[in-house]
Amino acid sequence: MIGRPFTARACANIALVKYWGKRDGVRNLPAAGSLSLTLDALTTVTTVRFDPALAADAMTLDGAAASAKVLARTTTWLDRVRELAGVTTRAAIDSVNHFPTASGLASSASGFAALALAATRAAGLDLDGAALSRLARLGSGSAARSIYGGLVRMHAGARVDGDDAIATPIAAAPAFVADLRMIIAEVGGGAPKTHGSRDAMDHCAATSPLYAAWVACLDGDLRAAEAAIAAGDLEALGAVTEGSALAMHAAAIASRPTVLYWQPATLAALAAVRELRGRGVGAWATMDAGPHVKVLTRAGDGAAVAAAMAAVPGVTAVTTATAGPGVEPA
Ligand code: PMV
Repeated sequence: MIGRPFTARACANIALVKYWGKRDGVRNLPAAGSLSLTLDALTTVTTVRFDPALAADAMTLDGAAASAKVLARTTTWLDRVRELAGVTTRAAIDSVNHFPTASGLASSASGFAALALAATRAAGLDLDGAALSRLARLGSGSAARSIYGGLVRMHAGARVDGDDAIATPIAAAPAFVADLRMIIAEVGGGAPKTHGSRDAMDHCAATSPLYAAWVACLDGDLRAAEAAIAAGDLEALGAVTEGSALAMHAAAIASRPTVLYWQPATLAALAAVRELRGRGVGAWATMDAGPHVKVLTRAGDGAAVAAAMAAVPGVTAVTTATAGPGVEPA
C-alpha cells in the first residue's frame, strides 16, 4: 500500500570485466557486457516513502539534504517507478552509505540498487530480479549488477528497447565464491572524483583512439572470465581482471583531453601487486573511475595483500571485503 515506508539494503560491486561505454545514453544501455563481484563491506541503506503531502521529491544523503543534481537525477529515475505503479505521488528518500572510506567507491551501484527495491516496494510494486536490475540500470549501469550477490554477469542485451540489458547471477561453486577477497586500497584520502564515470566514459567513446580497441576486447574477456569461474581457476580470473582494468584505463588515458585517474600512489600500489605475484602470492589489481586500487585475492592471502597495500606510501586506508548478498529488505 502506498504511503508505507520501505527500507532496503544493497552492496556495492566491483567489476572484474569492466563496463566503460554506452551504446544508448537515453536508455543507459552498455556497449558490451560486464562481470562483477558484489562486496559485503560497502553497503547503502535507503528508505523510501511516497507522501501525498509532498509537492516535490525530497532526499537526504548521509543525513544531509541531497544536492540539486542528485535530487534531479533521482526524481527523473523515480518518474519511471511512478509510471510503473500508476501514481504521481512524490517521495521522501533517505539514503545512507555505510562505506569505510569517504568517496569514489561505487556508491552509485549500491545506491540505485537499494533505491530500486525500496522505491518499488514503497510504491506497492513487487518486481522480480530482472525488473529490478533493469530499473537500477536506468539510474547507473553498474547498479544493475548490485541486485544480485556474489559473481554477477551484466548483459549488453540485443533489444533496441534495452529490455534484455539486465544482470543475472553467475552459478559459481559456493566454495570458490566464499574464498574470494577484494582488498580495497584507498589512494588520496577519499578526495572527490576528478571525472564522474558517466561523463568520462562518454568523452572516452567520443575522443579516444583506443576506445574501439577496448570495446573489441570485451567479448573475449567475458568468455575467459566465465570459463575461469566455471573451472574455479582464480589465476585465470585474476589475469583477466587486471587486464580488463588496464585496458579500460588505457582507453581513458588516451581520451583527448585525457581522463587520467592515476596518482603516484596508484602506480606504487600496482607495483606492489606485481611484487606480491613475484613472491607467489595470488593478487590481481583492478581500478575504477578513481585512483584507488582494488586487489582480487583468496582468503588465505588476504592478510598478506592487505599488509602490502597498507605499506604503500600514499595509501590512506585498506579494507578487506568478501562476497556480499544481493539487494534485500532491511
Ligand atoms: O554505472 P557507473 O556510472 O557507476 O559506471 C561504472 C564504471 C566503472 O566503475 C568504471 C566500471 C564498472 O564496470 O563498474
